[in-house]
Amino acid sequence: MFISFEGIDGSGKSTQARRLADALREKGHEVVLTREPGGSPGAEEIRKLVLEGDPERWSPETELLLFTAARRDHLERLILPALDAGQSVICDRFADSTRVYQGLRGPDMRQKVDMLHDLMIVREPDLTVLVDMDPEVGLARALGRHGTEERFEQFGADLQAQMRAGFLDLAQAAPKRYVVVDGARTEDTVAREIESIVTSRLT
Ligand code: ADP
Ligand code: TYD
Repeated sequence: MFISFEGIDGSGKSTQARRLADALREKGHEVVLTREPGGSPGAEEIRKLVLEGDPERWSPETELLLFTAARRDHLERLILPALDAGQSVICDRFADSTRVYQGLRGPDMRQKVDMLHDLMIVREPDLTVLVDMDPEVGLARALGRHGTEERFEQFGADLQAQMRAGFLDLAQAAPKRYVVVDGARTEDTVAREIESIVTSRLT
């Protein structure tokens, strides 16, 4: 099974992806836990290009190409081989992040995102967990972490609110693939809900 986690920055995706991987491994599943942008050596190099340095460095189109190049490498080198070998793949962000983040960068950007996805990626996760949360809470959590990847975390509350709405729209448009969980609860509560949803789908 190919499972992605989506949501705004600081919603708890990485925490929950890791906890789900641990829970499934304890049950005897072989799990590959990975993330985007990145997840393969080439894609991790692209991650540095796109997340570090001057935020004005790339045009929206160039940025879209970089995220898509990273995803293509990740898919070819890690995700598809793991799925073919019968392993489960848990990915912290996937194509829906591009639909939302790059899709919001200009009036015709969502169309370009979709065209490039159809040409270069095609594959969708079997299940996407949207960790939904109020952007104010997410932003406070994200700013609480220190690091060099500040490019996307300085968006501010307005843009984060649009992104939250963007993810909820995607979930509504693909109800079979998506589950929406309320991320504004304790880590344990969210983890238990996700584990029970995924376990019921795996059996
Ligand atoms: P994301 O990957 O969505 O950006 P993280 O999993 O890195 O989010 O979590 C962001 C921050 O919030 C981290 O410091 C993490 O420890 C904390 N955190 C995660 N889940 C919860 C939760 N349910 N309640 C409170 N804090 C949380
Ligand atoms: P990530 O490391 O998951 O950040 P966080 O843990 O704060 O959620 O992702 C880094 C940033 O990259 C995040 O702000 C979202 C952005 N991003 C895109 O803009 N497009 C994409 O396709 C992906 C995968 C991520």
